[in-house]
Amino acid sequence: MIDEAHFRHVLGQYPTGVSVVTAIGPDREPVGLAVGTFTSVSLEPALVGFIPARTSRSWPRIEAAGRFCINILSDRQEDVCRRFASKADDKFAGLAWSPAPSGAPVLDGAIAWIDCELEAVHPAGDHLIVIGRVGRLGVAGEATPLLFFRGGYGRFEV
Ligand SMILES: Cc1cc2nc3c(=O)[nH]c(=O)nc-3n(C[C@H](O)[C@H](O)[C@H](O)COP(=O)(O)O)c2cc1C
Repeated sequence: MIDEAHFRHVLGQYPTGVSVVTAIGPDREPVGLAVGTFTSVSLEPALVGFIPARTSRSWPRIEAAGRFCINILSDRQEDVCRRFASKADDKFAGLAWSPAPSGAPVLDGAIAWIDCELEAVHPAGDHLIVIGRVGRLGVAGEATPLLFFRGGYGRFEV
């Protein structure tokens, strides 16, 4: 059995970007969660992935929607990240967004968006590996990304 604190400490040495996965839930309300596990998976066909915890309250609603949008956050969106990393009931309150072709929210200020159809869900311990088939995608701005490293936020110096 690996000690949880040790596992988190070692894995926290690996930096990630931060994305918010959004959808319009079955109740027609927007839903979303912050993830550091977004990754490009395949070019042909175009697939991406992320890894929600089984305890995620948003994931079942995103799964029911069958489509979602990945929003890559800029380093000006730490507040947006904190909001979507919470368990708040209305994470979208007062937040500006517009619909991607699927209808899923594209958050104002996100660097890029990747609109997906749900392709597959693979069990992975206390998490799920979710694969999305990319439909439309775009770059929304010139800003640099929000980074997460050793439990804290940072930015990319060019
Ligand atoms: C930088 C960062 C990265 C995160 N990455 C993930 C992730 O990849 N998968 C996940 O399930 N939760 C991740 N979280 C935690 C979720 O955002 C958090 O548990 C959130 O409350 C989930 O909301 P939900 O219950 O509405 O789905 C991350 C949080 C932060 C701050």
